[in-house]
Amino acid sequence: MMKRAVALGLVLLLAGAGAAAADSGKRMIVGGTLASATEAPWAVAITNTDASRASKRWCSGVLVAPNKVLTAAHCAARATSSYGVIQGRADLNDREVGQFSKVTALWVHPAYSGTTNHNDFAVLTLAKPMTGVPVMPLETSAKADRKGAVPVVYGWGDTHETGPEDTLQKLAVPDLGDSTCLGIKGYRENGYSAAANVCAGYLDGRADACQGDSGGPLVLNGRLLALVSWGNGCAQAGYAGVYAEVAPAAKTLMDQVR
Ligand code: ARG
Repeated sequence: MMKRAVALGLVLLLAGAGAAAADSGKRMIVGGTLASATEAPWAVAITNTDASRASKRWCSGVLVAPNKVLTAAHCAARATSSYGVIQGRADLNDREVGQFSKVTALWVHPAYSGTTNHNDFAVLTLAKPMTGVPVMPLETSAKADRKGAVPVVYGWGDTHETGPEDTLQKLAVPDLGDSTCLGIKGYRENGYSAAANVCAGYLDGRADACQGDSGGPLVLNGRLLALVSWGNGCAQAGYAGVYAEVAPAAKTLMDQVR
């Protein structure tokens, strides 16, 4: 998105090569805490056969009907048959618990833009519906995105040593209001939209969603406020997390769910 993001990509590569020490404590659901599958039964991990990790972890998502999972459009660019969905398994390496389903159909929001990331939504249809799991209702009011609210984000994404990998983490992230993200030059240039995004997190860099959390739920008052979408690195001071706001897209999404 901007020079800084390119530089940051290099730092991430270095960290992968074992030079992470200087950055530890910097990027995770960086700075979150462990969540159990019982407290977030609607949270699901999305796997892909193309993933490099042994766990095949790819993105996160949320169950919105027994056979429908909402995730980020930018997570859904691979072949339908390469995807899997895991429910009820906080630790992805614990194959004894939870349910797994293959995916039979993949829908990407028709107005999704890979440039601005607007409408970063996709719906996966499961081969085998998840049983005994409450689904997450969608927020339909645009007023729910308001500065001062404190939604909670869930995901299996990178923790960068602030927690175990491949494990469901949660983090309360203050809604900073659209003006905060619009006030960040790179975010404005990258397409941050007051109507379509939620700006949430910590400008002091203490905690954030991260790679692998994409598509994971941002929950407020028992409803799905938004999905993890993008950010400049993770938990970088001066930058918040950008989420895809559900309310403006709720009608379109609901049509896919029934
Ligand atoms: N795009 C990332 C993914 O694919 C999620 C980025 C969220 N970043 C952030 N700093 N909040 O998993």
